[in-house]
Amino acid sequence: MGTWLAERFGLTVPVVGAPMAGAAGGALAGAISAAGGLGMVGCGSTAPADWVLEQRALAAAAGRPYGVGLLAWALPGRPDLLDAVLDDSVPRPALVSVSYGEYAQHVPVLHDAGVAVATQAGTVADGVAAVDAGIDVVVARGGEGGGHGRNLVATLPLLDAVLEAVDVPVLAAGGIGGPRGVAAALAAGAAGAWVGTAFLTCRESLLADDVVGRQAETDETGTAYGTVFDTASAVGWPNEFGGRAVRNEFFTRWQGREAELPADAEANATFRAAPTSRDLSAMALYAGQGVGRLGAERPAAAEVVADLGRAGDLLRAAVTRLGS
Ligand SMILES: Cc1cc2nc3c(=O)[nH]c(=O)nc-3n(C[C@H](O)[C@H](O)[C@H](O)COP(=O)(O)O)c2cc1C
Repeated sequence: MGTWLAERFGLTVPVVGAPMAGAAGGALAGAISAAGGLGMVGCGSTAPADWVLEQRALAAAAGRPYGVGLLAWALPGRPDLLDAVLDDSVPRPALVSVSYGEYAQHVPVLHDAGVAVATQAGTVADGVAAVDAGIDVVVARGGEGGGHGRNLVATLPLLDAVLEAVDVPVLAAGGIGGPRGVAAALAAGAAGAWVGTAFLTCRESLLADDVVGRQAETDETGTAYGTVFDTASAVGWPNEFGGRAVRNEFFTRWQGREAELPADAEANATFRAAPTSRDLSAMALYAGQGVGRLGAERPAAAEVVADLGRAGDLLRAAVTRLGS
């Protein structure tokens, strides 16, 4: 499956393991890269710079290209994160994404370091702005995706419109968790898929077994999009980028009443204590609509990559069908 993505990074499967703060560390990224995809480490706004270096070393240990994902809105207050991503004590990432906020000023810095740059676009305007900023590859990320982003357009219509509007390679993201989704994206003209949720439950992911169990119980209707958890966490997410997570009791209780949440001491204490008390009813369990495909068994990342790689067989079968 020779696409820009596969050729640029020497991949056998045109899939990026999406950066996922709290889930995709160096072990997952390295395992995805070792299996023929491109794994990315997700750096959240509170990630220590030392942690970034450790995770990069783990990802690089596969001896394959890997990537790192940064949150653009966090960088003005955390310039050390960008330094940690480019620190030469560890082999450099081949791809860095800077998403959600002002990122244009970082593109030349990353290019000077020889790194390809991606950003996640939730609208056609985002995609066009990315090209203007010199981005190498635009990720058309639909609202069904897990974690943060926009919830304005679904993946297929967004991919269609972004492919029409830009002349740089485009990856499809949001709800792509199996070979059918990858095949659909490639057939539409994408250079590959940017896959998050499908890797959440892998053995190499940072998620604990109880969270994986809850995700396995959740079907495709069980996620919700909003800003409840960002209001409770108060780490500084801009409101325009909400998050998609498993709909739990905390979300249901506060959806539509986000403005009241900061003043509710009990609710904030419950949210803060939840990761320690393992109270899944009050934790932010980020996942996209593809969560319905996940089972309770934790697969190796290599198995997920191999499954996504079956997209080639589906496409060949479709061509045969259409030709007959
Ligand atoms: C648990 C989780 C954490 C995420 N963290 C990040 C992040 O740190 N940086 C980022 O750019 N995107 C992040 N995302 C979004 C993903 O990069 C990607 O857009 C999304 O997973 C694609 O949709 P899918 O989950 O349906 O595959 C996260 C997604 C999830 C599920």
